[in-house]
Amino acid sequence: MIILGIETSCDETGVAVYSSQDGIVAEALASQIELHAEFGGVVPELASRDHVVKLAPMVRQVLAEAGVGPGELSAIAYTAGPGLIGALMVGASFAASYAYGLGVPAIPVHHMEGHLLASMLSEHPPAFPFLALLVSGGHTQLVDVRSLGEYEIVGATLDDAAGEAFDKVARLLSLPYPGGPAVAALAENGNEHAFELPRPMRGKGLNFSFSGLKTAVRIVVDEQLRRGESDELPAGIRADIAASFQAAVVDSLVEKCRDGLKATGLRRLVIAGGVGANRRLREAVQQLRDSDDVEVFYPEPRLCTDNGAMIAYAGACRYVAEGNWPPSIEATPRWPLDELVAPA
Ligand code: KG4
Ligand code: ZN
Repeated sequence: MIILGIETSCDETGVAVYSSQDGIVAEALASQIELHAEFGGVVPELASRDHVVKLAPMVRQVLAEAGVGPGELSAIAYTAGPGLIGALMVGASFAASYAYGLGVPAIPVHHMEGHLLASMLSEHPPAFPFLALLVSGGHTQLVDVRSLGEYEIVGATLDDAAGEAFDKVARLLSLPYPGGPAVAALAENGNEHAFELPRPMRGKGLNFSFSGLKTAVRIVVDEQLRRGESDELPAGIRADIAASFQAAVVDSLVEKCRDGLKATGLRRLVIAGGVGANRRLREAVQQLRDSDDVEVFYPEPRLCTDNGAMIAYAGACRYVAEGNWPPSIEATPRWPLDELVAPA
């Protein structure tokens, strides 16, 4: 079985080929960071147009690198949602048309299921069941994962997602988009005990909240600006704020993971999504493994952020477990993960 995977839900064009025999055999990723940087965030129409330009040449390149002819493909998997509607439509219409032409199924994949299963591509993949911490730009969820498609969301953010909080704090610190990696890099030189920031929702169930933390950072920034002589914060203070903020997010995430493991009785924890690339978070969950005797899994950083490999792999899982897909083009911008069903 050989599956071509296509990801175009937001600002990354991702293409990969997954083979049941050899795993991911070729992949390519085109980031749109430079395209959106001057606007401080993703401009949906520019994102769609760039996917249109990049997608077909990337598919050609990845198939060539894999040494796979189009006629050898078993199916084409594509991100059908959630995401930006225009961006999704590019990948969905390309995948469905190409698959129709080849006479193979086009498999619509839920983007978050892709993130959820990405750690299965690691050298030591987790076995079902597990608790997943899904932390991306738009989602922060604790998911009780029983098997493929059997997902119960046991905790979620009440306001901002963790990645969104990183992006907003980056703006407060005059850092470029995308904010997460920029805040994390700045935090490397900072003292995380310099500013006392709240750990929202501590001890109050499995839900998260990050908007209060973001406001607390704004208050610290304003206060530091008032004290200073210039209208820019000194580099050391900015680094201390970034480090203190990052520590607060990581503490909140890890604590909820611990509570979630206790509540569900699960002994395996999987970290997924863009914020999962954060080094400080990865270190903290490692400690959880030592102190709480749980197995911890996370994909390598490049598979935490958006990519085609996770879509190819999720598509392959669905291909093996399910039977047929009617020819259709699916693009669902809002699509709750727990609406997915296990294969019949
Ligand atoms: O999963 P992802 O690539 O796209 C979505 O599905 O949203 O996640 C993107 C999010 C962004 O908010 C980005 O700032 C954040 O992940 N992110 C990070 C890091 N790398 C990406 N946040 C903290 N530390 C990082 N190293
Ligand atoms: Zn994502």
